[in-house]
Amino acid sequence: MTTTKRLLAAGAVTLAAFSLQPAAQAAPAPVVGGTQAEQGEFPFMVRLSMGCGGALYEQDIVLTAAHCVDGSGPDTSITATGGVVDLESSDAITAQSTEVLQAPGYNGKGKDWALIKLDKPIDQPTLKIATDASYNEGDFTIAGWGADKEGGDQQRYLLKAEVPFVDDAACGNAYGDDLTPDEEICAGLIEEGGVDTCQGDSGGPMFRKDDSGAFIQVGIVSWGQGCAQPGYPGVYTEVSTFAADIAEAAQGL
Ligand code: ARG
Repeated sequence: MTTTKRLLAAGAVTLAAFSLQPAAQAAPAPVVGGTQAEQGEFPFMVRLSMGCGGALYEQDIVLTAAHCVDGSGPDTSITATGGVVDLESSDAITAQSTEVLQAPGYNGKGKDWALIKLDKPIDQPTLKIATDASYNEGDFTIAGWGADKEGGDQQRYLLKAEVPFVDDAACGNAYGDDLTPDEEICAGLIEEGGVDTCQGDSGGPMFRKDDSGAFIQVGIVSWGQGCAQPGYPGVYTEVSTFAADIAEAAQGL
């Protein structure tokens, strides 16, 4: 599973062509089984040039997946694009990476988070992260510019969908020891499939509303068996587990 995840993330980089959404489409396509997000609906969403998603943790720090980056240290190779749902919009705000911090101890199983420091702030609202497990339940929103189906094209317009929480027992039934239950949280329509994140969505946030009505990030898109397959939910980094580590790491950037 780990190998697949890495290869898929790398493969996303080479998918240069964006697919235009057909004007009228019988069934919603994206993320997988999603619809187009409104401009400004999820202003913290960022697209990263290696073919991943991310969220603004601070205006100049992006939270993404460890498997989207090469390691830790100075890195000026990544462009972050924010402020738009349309990646080709003239309103797009871009910034360049200066440094990357990959989760300490990351070895391809669990711990799939990383921070990217930007050379300038992207002037958009940030996304707060869950600091305890209390929001690790219910329905979650997923969003990204990744493939709209297994093997599908990367997207020009941001797609969104809703997926329900899947508990560790049910997720473990699907994935066995590949799942790291304390570090990962699963979501998806386990019976019917059809809605999921997919290649190129990695690193992007899974989020919901908190008790005050504000968005709060509970997951980071990490991996899955294919995309949207019945019986195989999406697997996300459990943000609450790493909230203190993320905050500390951000301080040091
Ligand atoms: N690893 C993929 C990426 O790099 C994300 C896969 C998510 N898969 C899923 N079935 N939810 O973009």
